[in-house]
Amino acid sequence: MPIISAPSLGSRFTQLVIAAGVLTIAAWLFVSSFGVPRQLHIPSLDIAPPVAAKPEKPPPTHATSPGEHPIDELIGRADVELVRLQQKEAHTLQDAARQYRERRGRQPPPGFDRWFSFAQNHSAVIVEEFFDRIYDDLNPFWGVEAKQMREHAITFEHQVKVRDGKVTVKSDDVKRPWMTLWQDMVASVFEGGGWLPDLDMPINVMDESRMVVESEEIEANMAKMRAGRRIVPANELKSKFHGLEDLDKIPPPPFDPQFRGEGPYWPLAVIGCPEGSPARKTFIETDFSTPPPLSPGHPKHSHHGYVQNWTLAKSPCENPDLQGMHGTFVEPLSIANTKRFFPLFGGSKLQMNNEILLPPAMYWTNDPFYSGGKGHGGSWNEKENKVIWRGSASGGRNKKENWTRFQRHRFISMVNATSVREAEHGQKPPNFILPSKEAYNLESYGATSANGSLGDWIQTWSDVATVWLECFPGNGSPRCPYTDHYFAIAKSMPMSEQYNYKYLPDIDGNSFSGRYRGFLGSTSLPIKATIYDEWHDSRLVPWKHFVPMDNTFMDIYGLMEYFIGNEEIGLAGHDDVAEKIAMEGKRWADKVLRTEDMSIYVFRLLLEYARLCDDSRDVLGWAE
Ligand SMILES: *[C@@H]1O[C@H](CO)[C@@H](O)[C@H](O)[C@H]1NC(C)=O
Ligand SMILES: *[C@@H]1O[C@H](CO)[C@@H](O)[C@H](O)[C@H]1NC(C)=O
Ligand SMILES: *[C@@H]1O[C@H](CO)[C@@H](O)[C@H](O)[C@H]1NC(C)=O
Ligand SMILES: *[C@@H]1O[C@H](CO)[C@@H](O)[C@H](O)[C@H]1NC(C)=O
Ligand SMILES: *[C@@H]1O[C@H](CO)[C@@H](O)[C@H](O)[C@H]1NC(C)=O
Repeated sequence: MPIISAPSLGSRFTQLVIAAGVLTIAAWLFVSSFGVPRQLHIPSLDIAPPVAAKPEKPPPTHATSPGEHPIDELIGRADVELVRLQQKEAHTLQDAARQYRERRGRQPPPGFDRWFSFAQNHSAVIVEEFFDRIYDDLNPFWGVEAKQMREHAITFEHQVKVRDGKVTVKSDDVKRPWMTLWQDMVASVFEGGGWLPDLDMPINVMDESRMVVESEEIEANMAKMRAGRRIVPANELKSKFHGLEDLDKIPPPPFDPQFRGEGPYWPLAVIGCPEGSPARKTFIETDFSTPPPLSPGHPKHSHHGYVQNWTLAKSPCENPDLQGMHGTFVEPLSIANTKRFFPLFGGSKLQMNNEILLPPAMYWTNDPFYSGGKGHGGSWNEKENKVIWRGSASGGRNKKENWTRFQRHRFISMVNATSVREAEHGQKPPNFILPSKEAYNLESYGATSANGSLGDWIQTWSDVATVWLECFPGNGSPRCPYTDHYFAIAKSMPMSEQYNYKYLPDIDGNSFSGRYRGFLGSTSLPIKATIYDEWHDSRLVPWKHFVPMDNTFMDIYGLMEYFIGNEEIGLAGHDDVAEKIAMEGKRWADKVLRTEDMSIYVFRLLLEYARLCDDSRDVLGWAE
């Protein structure tokens, strides 16, 4: 990438468009990755997995028989979880409203009936929990004066605005493509027959999330929220929003969020972690010149080495080692951080951030760079039985002194047959370690035969390479003096072509990965690692709709031995299980991650947001 120092996604995008020759690369750059943890309510072990959990398949020659592998157990739990979610589907307005009151402890916002018929009209699966993210994001605002929210919102430099059913954008002179996409997303509510009151949405146009409020302040707001929360009797409810005419007539003085750009990011971010969380008690690292702090055993919080609680696995507050293993913390492209709490909308965030999540603009565009285009891949059996990954070595400003801590570099090295062979022969890799032989007890790693070679086995299934090393300082070339020795440069490959492969790892870039929705909707299997939260987190079930991977990637070998097996040594994999997750993920994405679902999410979100910005918010509501 020629120029990646611009602070905002928008201007970066513009530069990329000008540099037409590198557009292909740009695709991969954006294909980066974001996230807020959500509780997945994975039932405890004592719930018997339903029969569906055990796929029919010929018995493997060794290792596990069906049901014995820890992954079988995790898939069993995921089946139970999805059934639980589906049982909660609301089919009538009354049912939806009852569930709303039960889960939120208030009356639904005015317009709820209209929202429900909008969702129904668009054939949505309506499960109240799918909207949990909205409440995680908005609840602390019950502790902020409505007047203050409105005044801060209306003066912010980048906004999507609704007035009298018209959706407009206020922004500076640079054309910002994300703004237009989000404008379009909000407008889709009206176009689909919905309705929104007047409102102002301040938008974060940067790649990175930018608000970290001290968790003590958020906690105090939450206490206010809980104290004021009640189900207002129907006859006391008001249904009419006050509107923003007064503010439009007499604009308030501009509000300065005091964005600050000094890094490093971890010390700024950690104050957003809950008091008492591991991150708040952990020493802040300052030296990133050594290999990352990986341990050869199972990743923390795992089930025999595999992710069992996705929320926990992706939480930087619970996994403070991530401060030295992820570009976001080691050195992000840009930092513009505010500690002030005001409404700011964005596409993704970390657990410690306080933005209000929208479905990312990249998920709204038809641009095949992000969407993968119209095709979703052929049938499973026609696919290459391999792992494919192409992308930019993004993740932040990787430098000579600290590139070894960047996640994409690490992943690429860990599935590089040559570098793994070198590690097996005792060479110390600069940016990863191998798990101990005991940790995963892999046949491919000589669990039972002394001559097993992880490297040789990886060579049979790995096709992973970067297309641009993103050096700092850069020299306009995809190569990089300090990482050249460790990485080859490959040609980029459109997503549609990647769908000719069975396995699609998805690794965070500068923020969340813009290709993830495309991956989920494909007939291939996404293997996902991320520290970012997104709007869809509460509607996807790990192990059911995608395969979760730890951010250390120490589980990658175990995952691949389970799915692909090792033909060389006669070890059968679980190809049918992989196909099943790929196809169920696709079917689910076609049901709950459609553009219609994003409109429905935004419709609900903005009704709630508009209520919060109204002085009468305590009595504004809808009831039968
Ligand atoms: C998963 O982790 C989260 C975050 O620590 C926690 O709140 C939740 O209870 C865990 N879920 C289960 C089922 O253990
Ligand atoms: C739902 O569809 C009906 C019939 O097409 C239409 O009259 C109504 O306006 C729609 N309602 C919403 C909220 O979209
Ligand atoms: C990463 O390395 C660069 C170059 O030494 C340094 O400026 C930067 O502060 C490092 N990041 C952190 C978080 O220390
Ligand atoms: C390991 O050694 C055995 C016996 O020498 C041989 O049959 C087998 O093919 C070897 N396996 C690998 C993966 O090299
Ligand atoms: C794999 O690692 C070797 C040795 O570090 C390196 O020469 C090669 O370019 C790497 N391959 C890829 C695809 O990055």
